[in-house]
Amino acid sequence: MKLSTTTAKNSFKYGWLLSRIWPYIKPYMFRIICGFLVAIPLGLLDGVTAFALKPFMDYVVGKQDWVFHILGHEFTLTWQAFAFIIPFGVIAFAGFQGVLRYLNDYISAWTSQRITNDVKMDLFHKLIYMDPQFFDENSSGIIITRYMSDPQTASAGIVDQIKTITTSLFGALGLIAVMLYSSWKLAFIGVLVLCIAFIPVALIRKRIKSASNKNMVIGGNITTNINETYNGNKVMTAYGLQNRQEQYFKNQIWDSFNVNMSLTKRAAWMSPLMYVIASCGIAVVLGYGTHLITSGEMTAGSFASFVTSLLLLYKPVKTLGNTLTGIQNIFVAMGRVFELFDLKPEIVDKANAVEMKGLNDKIELKNVWFEYVQNQPVLKNLTLTINKDETLAIVGNSGGGKSTLVNLLPRFYDIKSGSITFDGTDIRDLTVKSLRANIAMVFQDNFLFSGTIRENIMMGNPEATEEELELAIESAHLQEMIAELPDGIETMLGERGLTLSGGQRQRVAIARAMIKKAPIVILDEATSALDNKSEAIVQKALDNLIKDKTVFVIAHRLSTIKNADRIAVINEGELVELGNHEELMAIPNGQYKALYEMQFKKQEALI
Ligand SMILES: Nc1ncnc2c1ncn2[C@@H]1O[C@H](COP(=O)(O)OP(=O)(O)OP(=O)(O)O)[C@@H](O)[C@H]1O
Ligand SMILES: [Mg+2]
Repeated sequence: MKLSTTTAKNSFKYGWLLSRIWPYIKPYMFRIICGFLVAIPLGLLDGVTAFALKPFMDYVVGKQDWVFHILGHEFTLTWQAFAFIIPFGVIAFAGFQGVLRYLNDYISAWTSQRITNDVKMDLFHKLIYMDPQFFDENSSGIIITRYMSDPQTASAGIVDQIKTITTSLFGALGLIAVMLYSSWKLAFIGVLVLCIAFIPVALIRKRIKSASNKNMVIGGNITTNINETYNGNKVMTAYGLQNRQEQYFKNQIWDSFNVNMSLTKRAAWMSPLMYVIASCGIAVVLGYGTHLITSGEMTAGSFASFVTSLLLLYKPVKTLGNTLTGIQNIFVAMGRVFELFDLKPEIVDKANAVEMKGLNDKIELKNVWFEYVQNQPVLKNLTLTINKDETLAIVGNSGGGKSTLVNLLPRFYDIKSGSITFDGTDIRDLTVKSLRANIAMVFQDNFLFSGTIRENIMMGNPEATEEELELAIESAHLQEMIAELPDGIETMLGERGLTLSGGQRQRVAIARAMIKKAPIVILDEATSALDNKSEAIVQKALDNLIKDKTVFVIAHRLSTIKNADRIAVINEGELVELGNHEELMAIPNGQYKALYEMQFKKQEALI
């Protein structure tokens, strides 16, 4: 599944998206509701300010006392008292609003971060169980963007936007209420104009979606570029590729600029248009309002309140307008996030899969066909049996399918046809976990995680005892190297174990495989030439690893090949010869013989 080709098909299915995000929101519902409750008065306070203008204008400016009745008693508030109370009231309101705003910000930041965390953790869980093929097909940058920034946008955004919408909506409602109270006729005009002003929002959804998707792909490419600059920095420096990398980067940055500008160009007219429509509304209101005042239908205070409300209404309405475009972005990100949730790894346990308990008899490959890309078979009709505790060396031309063959055994990929069986049980009937627990692998290029040497070795078997660790280190011939390090086994390794040499790294990987104590061992021997002394050390380490194990070893060294019980020659995906060294050498014009003459004889001469 190539991620860059998935484009959030579902980003307009709002109901579906909300039903998907709901389980993440649900646990925090109580707090979110608290946030809402705080947001409501926060929004309404604007209306209160506008409302306060009416008594201010009518009583204070008009120098009239306010007479009102409570439970049949008459009360009088002098205009001087009003003049005194209102300014303090304004300050008190501001203070109150400040406290509410703080609470609201705090609650929404907390809930949105928690929801984001949950989504990210679940997505990461999904990611780590994806098939190797998924990682073959997708670049690191796309994965980082899709797994890290989209959840942030989707889930943090949703709470933030809900918060903004509630405050703005209640702000608008409060102000509209004041307007209605002041004059329902004017209010009717105002609200009608507002509704018209919102129409353009609906028109730009698609543009936002396409811009968001493009931005995601560009963001991913930029991250990939940075990763490659980091990981390939030596190659870059050696070949003077700085210019190339820089040019790539510049292009991507400009791409991103262009996408955003084209969206702005095509969407930014929306907000001014809303303003123009709203201004028309204000113009009508002012004209009609003048008429209402002069005809005595409305007091000056009511009109002041009304106009203030109308002006204050600008802000929440504008925010709502922006939020709607923001929300579209969020839904697109959400569409992409749930697309990831729906990815299914293909290599999973069958319903009645059984545990693999060691290897007792043999591993059989029968008529195995395999292809990475459709109709381009990499392994062709391969049939091979390997007995318990046998060591099988695999040799052949580069790109012939050796690494592919051994990657099928831990079921990194599923075969297209034929069968692979362990003691007669099909590989697809075993639980993936138990299968992989029975196989220890040393790869061509061994990856070490950032952490100490101890941690890197113990990854093979976290339950190993201190003695087992010692033994693994000794058998991998690491003790001398470790003794020279200032922090010994606790020495930290860089992100890719860069502080170690190739041979040292391989031996750490051998120790890691050794401590696993798996009955089946797969070795993809490094082709890199080691000097004689290191070669001898690595060889001894390997000998220790493969003792009493069933071993597949992709061999590049003559010593490994000669020590093997049998040799399989794989050429262009086909098993062409099988037997021990002497048998294969005896085949006239044999491929192994040719390979031997070409590659291994020199090594023999050297030794
Ligand atoms: N992940 C992959 N996706 C697609 N094609 C792949 C992948 N890995 C390998 N191939 C292709 O499969 C073929 C066999 O590759 P493989 O790595 O198995 O060769 P090999 O025999 O191990 O070669 P070498 O001796 O150079 O390591 C090659 O043509 C390669 O391009
Ligand atoms: Mg290989």
